Amino acid sequence: MAKDKTPAVEGGAPVRDDFLPFARPSIGSDDIDRVVATLRSGWLTVGPRTLEFEDAVASYVGVKKACAVHSCTAGLHLSMVALGLAPGDEVILPALNFAAAPNMVIHMGATPVLVDVDPDSLNVTAEIIESAITERTKLVIPVHFAGRPCPMDEILELARSRKIKVLSDGAHAIGTKYRNHSIGSMADATSFSFYVTKGITTGEGGIVASPDGALIDRVKRLSLHGMSSDAWRRYSDRGPWYYEILEPGYKYNMNDIQAALGLCQMERVDDFRDARARLAAVYGEGFAEIDAVLTPDDYDEGVHAWHLYPIQIDLDSLTINRDRFILNLIEEGIGVSVHFIPLHYHPYYRECLDHDPGAFPVTEAYFERAVSLPIYPSMTEDDARDAIRAIVKLLDYYKR
Ligand SMILES: Cc1ncc(COP(=O)(O)O)c(C=O)c1O
Repeated sequence: MAKDKTPAVEGGAPVRDDFLPFARPSIGSDDIDRVVATLRSGWLTVGPRTLEFEDAVASYVGVKKACAVHSCTAGLHLSMVALGLAPGDEVILPALNFAAAPNMVIHMGATPVLVDVDPDSLNVTAEIIESAITERTKLVIPVHFAGRPCPMDEILELARSRKIKVLSDGAHAIGTKYRNHSIGSMADATSFSFYVTKGITTGEGGIVASPDGALIDRVKRLSLHGMSSDAWRRYSDRGPWYYEILEPGYKYNMNDIQAALGLCQMERVDDFRDARARLAAVYGEGFAEIDAVLTPDDYDEGVHAWHLYPIQIDLDSLTINRDRFILNLIEEGIGVSVHFIPLHYHPYYRECLDHDPGAFPVTEAYFERAVSLPIYPSMTEDDARDAIRAIVKLLDYYKR
């Protein structure tokens, strides 16, 4: 067989000689200059740039106030406290999920109640959530998976009628719009992530947005030890040395170095998202005629942020499994990943929640077949075409 048709793992020529990473932040010289200027300014911790960043993100998502924190996880945690989650409460969230939200639920002494997702959107729906509501349900945490919005109108209507709070996990969803609303303006609170792989980055970072300004004031206070507001000013010449602890808080604040980077990234947030959307279109076209590849559904009622591009491989048509397919792709020079290992497959959650395999059939079937392809602004359309070529090559070679 021709060397370029033989997989690299079998001694053939790889599709790419230079490895295409799965993810890479877009850091330009402006980003670097803004961070350096902050370092030179002498003010590194939470301060004027963090406030400016909060305003920039709040206005972008269409709310009056937001609170910048050091991760989306921290934002989820503080939102749970501010929304009054208490020990013994139940919290509904998808099994197709990262550990951040369920871990915080556990730390609150509450119980994560896992649910399956809709097979087309890979998101929770109001119907799925409703089936898991009990008298103890206090909160639901929809994940806008891959940057595609959950059906928020239905979810909010259900939650309001059952007196349940909604905390959006917006880790994938800066730039996402449900119909014409940013998802950050809809739920009781939304926590976004600015981790390196996300829509914009602050290295590590996150922000809580809410239409409820009083809730954000509380999150802000909790993010800095429970100090009276603007306590950070105590080190500047603008305010007094005095502060008061109003409740036991946490140390989750963002700092001005992160915020300087975030401010510069926010200037390109829509450009970044549009670049991802163009790559999604290249993938969509490239796989249109390939039966063995199921591409993610588009979403045309609003805006998909395309944080991830998760495809599903028809394993019945292949002689290898998904894990072997991924090892092959990496040898072909294409970085890929899987989002997510279902929560109930992890030893801790398997034991504490006692779900057998089979409990969440859509999540499980998706996981067996899932491969997340690289999708980020600094990738070219040819990079995406290389990923398509590598997949087609492997599908041909390993055809059953
Ligand atoms: C769905 C989801 N929620 C939360 C997080 C946590 O984000 P962070 O690392 O900013 O805490 C992630 C991280 O990838 C995620 O994928």
